[in-house]
Amino acid sequence: MGRWRLSRRKLLFLCVLCTSLLLFLHLPTSPHHFSLSPSSTLCLSRFHRISWTHSPPPAWSWAKSENCYFRRFSRKHASELLRGAWILAAGDSQARLVVLALLRLLLDPTEVSTVEPDLFRRHSDYHITLPDRGIKVDFLWAPYESNITWLLRDIQHTRHYPDLLILGSGLWHMLHITNPSLYGTALTEIKQEAVSLLEPSGSLHPHMFWLGLPKLVNSKLNTEEKKEKMTGNMLEAYNWEVKWRGMPKGSSGPFMLLDIGLLTRGCGPLCTLDGMHYDGAVYDAAVNIMLNSMLIESQ
Ligand SMILES: *[C@@H]1O[C@H](CO)[C@@H](O)[C@H](O)[C@H]1NC(C)=O
Repeated sequence: MGRWRLSRRKLLFLCVLCTSLLLFLHLPTSPHHFSLSPSSTLCLSRFHRISWTHSPPPAWSWAKSENCYFRRFSRKHASELLRGAWILAAGDSQARLVVLALLRLLLDPTEVSTVEPDLFRRHSDYHITLPDRGIKVDFLWAPYESNITWLLRDIQHTRHYPDLLILGSGLWHMLHITNPSLYGTALTEIKQEAVSLLEPSGSLHPHMFWLGLPKLVNSKLNTEEKKEKMTGNMLEAYNWEVKWRGMPKGSSGPFMLLDIGLLTRGCGPLCTLDGMHYDGAVYDAAVNIMLNSMLIESQ
């Protein structure tokens, strides 16, 4: 598979698309405001400003934001952006749900219903290629931070770099180890590996995303052990480690944070049955944030 890049052709395609959209809507703004550098940082900080409705089902939309035109990706446009890309996701069930949301965007509904049972085989990896678009998606079951650290070391050894790296873990640590500062130490190791992944390969480095922890609705958690250990205070302490250990770009880290915590709080307790895994709309919003940030980052 050829090395994926957000080529000029792709950018041109998306810009033309955006321009025509703006003209069509007669927006009183010039199209070059779309995600160009002066407003990039500003726009990045507004990605997670999302409003929710519960019709049902839950639905999301971006809050209106001056000069930042985020786009909701259709199958066609997501395929165009990701053509030729190798997407590697590793982590716990939140990462799995993000992969599902991505596949929902890339495949048609009947195809999705055939991949879902395989994708959700408990505690297993999942691989799929979409040959028509040259897209390869790998999900590696990596519930512990050490699993992710090893994966990143492996990538450095093999020098086989994915184009997109989507990582996230913490829930298993919270349940089985229940110690925020040990979690923080483990995050530091992931961060070190991620940073050294960025260094040698110059412009070919992957876009790296870290999935924040979801809001936990304690009363809905499905075991007594979870209710006892996965408390609001514990969640807060774990979230604090992610920032304090400098995982996200905003804290000088290598990862763009996909703030699942913010999205799940926004969607609210109605969006989860087991207090931990949320409605697909949450992960669909995360995928759209991810694709938009790739567009901005690539300029
Ligand atoms: C993840 O790490 C744990 C703890 O080190 C280990 O027991 C487990 O085998 C690893 N799982 C995978 C899928 O690598």
